[in-house]
Amino acid sequence: MSLDMSILHKNAIGVTDEESLKQFTYIEKAKGYVAELEKELGRKPTACVVTFGCQMNAKDSEKLIGILVSIGYESVETEDADFVIYNTCTVRDNADQRVLGRLGYVKSLHKKRPWMKTAICGCMMQEKTAVEKIQKSYRFVNLIFGTHNLYKFAELLCQMFESDRMIIDIWEKTDRIVEQLPISRKYSFKSGVNIMFGCNNFCTYCIVPYVRGRERSRTPKDIIRECEELAADGVKEVMLLGQNVDSYGIGLSDEDKISFPELLDEVCKVEGIERVRFMTPHPKDMSVDLIDAIVRNPKVARHIHLPLQSGSTEILKRMNRHYTKESYLQLVDLIREKLPDAAITTDIIVGFPGEKDSDVDETIDVVRKAGFDNAFTFIYSKRTGTPAASFEDQVSEEDAKRNFNRLLKAVQETARLQSGKLEGTVERVLVEDINEQDSNLVTGRMSNNTLVHFPGDESLIGTFVDVHLDECHGFYYTGTMV
Ligand code: 5AD
Ligand code: SF4
Repeated sequence: MSLDMSILHKNAIGVTDEESLKQFTYIEKAKGYVAELEKELGRKPTACVVTFGCQMNAKDSEKLIGILVSIGYESVETEDADFVIYNTCTVRDNADQRVLGRLGYVKSLHKKRPWMKTAICGCMMQEKTAVEKIQKSYRFVNLIFGTHNLYKFAELLCQMFESDRMIIDIWEKTDRIVEQLPISRKYSFKSGVNIMFGCNNFCTYCIVPYVRGRERSRTPKDIIRECEELAADGVKEVMLLGQNVDSYGIGLSDEDKISFPELLDEVCKVEGIERVRFMTPHPKDMSVDLIDAIVRNPKVARHIHLPLQSGSTEILKRMNRHYTKESYLQLVDLIREKLPDAAITTDIIVGFPGEKDSDVDETIDVVRKAGFDNAFTFIYSKRTGTPAASFEDQVSEEDAKRNFNRLLKAVQETARLQSGKLEGTVERVLVEDINEQDSNLVTGRMSNNTLVHFPGDESLIGTFVDVHLDECHGFYYTGTMV
């Protein structure tokens, strides 16, 4: 199946920055290689980008597809393609294992099609051991690159077409942000917008600071320009992306420097953008200013994802999170007071080294008191190179699973209590899709991120409509357009 996507920056017209211009020359060169392949195959070659992990990776994949489509590939969703690119995640071990599993399948495809190419990029490739494993056990892979040099994809593709050897290009760090390259969006009406890259927090369990590097912020000018271009292209909702959006501004010059709340104000001024989301704030830095900025900007979605990780102050300290159970709950109280209609969701890790049943009791206590609308719960995964990996008191799998189940039950109970609050009201929703189960229904997303299914057709996709929420079914509603 080919994907229906729109591309920004199809060519170098208007592009000013030197590195982007250089990459456009590689795009031109790569077009020649793809055209040759097309002649050989007697059809347009296909490329499939498989994305693992978070919204940042999803956004990076749109950049990869932008280049692939610009050089002449047809973007497809199945790995049964002429070129497969895995954009990897390494935040937990199961993400690593899933990629390796898929590579086994692709190896069999390579045998059948000598012209086939495979590339691997993303966070997992920033780890030396992962690259060594691929070099040793997956010799058929043609190209490996990391998170810092993704903007060089066109250049790397040229190298790949010119060589029979495995091309490996991984950078340990970068302070560079390359703008203005092609990008191909998955949705015509909503888009992620990077506002910063990297993380400086070094939570002791987390690999992200090692694979995504130090925090770098995009200038407000570049962010606003992208939002304006997106709006002109029909986008109605943007999600501002960063590992720790409240510390937006790090690395900007004095004349560019603005705070995240100020940036929210500016993005909300962009005509045509009707809804603004952001992901992810850190509880230690979430300021009253930010909450006030949400209050004064009705365009900002009433949904705050506020990762808790643990409800035990002792464990939070060992995680290097810089807040306590009490301060987190105070923050939730403040949000509830100032933004009574906002949904609050969270991430929680169970089985962190040294965690006792009594610590999980504290976490469950926070879940109940905070009344989360939803929570993503994870079993701690040991990441080589992080401080927590060498903590001595690792928790047994059995204890972690038992506590995970206890926590999950508490999360489900609280979410059930929260859901249904809006039954009988009318909400403005952005229609995203035809319902998967029933093609007479469409699916819309409310400001607080909850989904509602209601009668409608394809023509509504990408528009905002008012929907009466007839009935709550746990995590979603059914409704009627008014
Ligand atoms: N093990 C388990 N979960 C983790 N996360 C980050 N690192 C780990 C790890 N080593 C979770 C955190 C984070 C989310 C994106 O992934 O909860 O908020
Ligand atoms: Fe990882 Fe903590 Fe940075 Fe989030 S804030 S990416 S959990 S180190």
